[in-house]
Amino acid sequence: MEKHIRFDSGENALLLLDQRLLPLREEYVPCRTTDDVVAALRNMVVRGAPAIGVTAAWGCVLALLEAGDGPDWRDRLDALLHRLAEARPTAVNLRWAVDRMRRVWRNAGDMDPDLLVRVWRAEAAAVQREDIAANKTLGRFGAACIQDGDTIMTHCNAGALATAGYGTALGVIRAAWEEGKKISVIANETRPFLQGARLTAYELQADGIPVAVACDNACGLLMRRGMVQCVVVGADRIAANGDTANKIGTYSVALLAREHGIPFFVAAPLSTIDTTLDDGSAIPIEQRPAREVTHMGDTRLTPDGVPVYNFAFDVTPAALITGIITEQGVLHAPYTASIRGAFAARKG
Ligand code: MRU
Repeated sequence: MEKHIRFDSGENALLLLDQRLLPLREEYVPCRTTDDVVAALRNMVVRGAPAIGVTAAWGCVLALLEAGDGPDWRDRLDALLHRLAEARPTAVNLRWAVDRMRRVWRNAGDMDPDLLVRVWRAEAAAVQREDIAANKTLGRFGAACIQDGDTIMTHCNAGALATAGYGTALGVIRAAWEEGKKISVIANETRPFLQGARLTAYELQADGIPVAVACDNACGLLMRRGMVQCVVVGADRIAANGDTANKIGTYSVALLAREHGIPFFVAAPLSTIDTTLDDGSAIPIEQRPAREVTHMGDTRLTPDGVPVYNFAFDVTPAALITGIITEQGVLHAPYTASIRGAFAARKG
């Protein structure tokens, strides 16, 4: 499943598999402008931190085409990139990807837009390729944390759909499966957008990996009954001390895992680590429209007029995390040192 984010160079269109319709329908949304990409990100046509980053990289190419080549093209492009980077606040991969494209632009010197389009197309393709490679590498490191016979709980969808391909948490699960370990997965349903029930179950079933879906609030019971040996989740942003923002409900899963003595791993590429933040308290938490909670499709679930909380993410303190699985290896506490070491190793 590596075709869910595709750039059509002939049409200058970004084609995004509409994740809102899965698993019932496979349809693509074409994006031709920056506003199209911003809308697709906000409305969750595409979601998942690394997939958001890849989409943003291609969004920069569309922004450049949209800025044209008149005298003020640089200012127009700058404003469009700014708009793109603001589409969603929590997943740092969005800003990371736009910053990477900006850096290439700056380093390219005084390039005309025609040449820059070619350079940026290559860069966006590199962002996409590198994400898949990072996931495969971190998957192999993470597979060593999984024992033969384990049932692994995961929350949300940190699979191929949430990345350029292969997945982070699901990359670890895929790698363990490919090594021949007889594992199974419990996918928490992940209210309100149901990434677990719809997307994780869809991906794993397609790969023939045994998967069962559980209501989010069954987590405690499943752990107490000994039905979970390990938890692996993805991340939207990891602070310098290892505090991790991920889909709402992850913090509760981590607390329950600690109570039941179950290892709790976070799997993420280094592009998800934001070393500008000392700890998780500064991670912006997106609040999404109330309608995602009050309605199921067109059917209202709650009494008209009742206010709701729809925080899309929470922060799991580093102290609850057994290890952070990255393409530089599995990092352990104290995370401030191990994260710094991972970045230094990559540079080296
Ligand atoms: O709101 P979403 O669906 O974009 O949130 C996604 C998650 O929280 C995932 O668990 C996280 O991005 C990891 S994706 C590899």
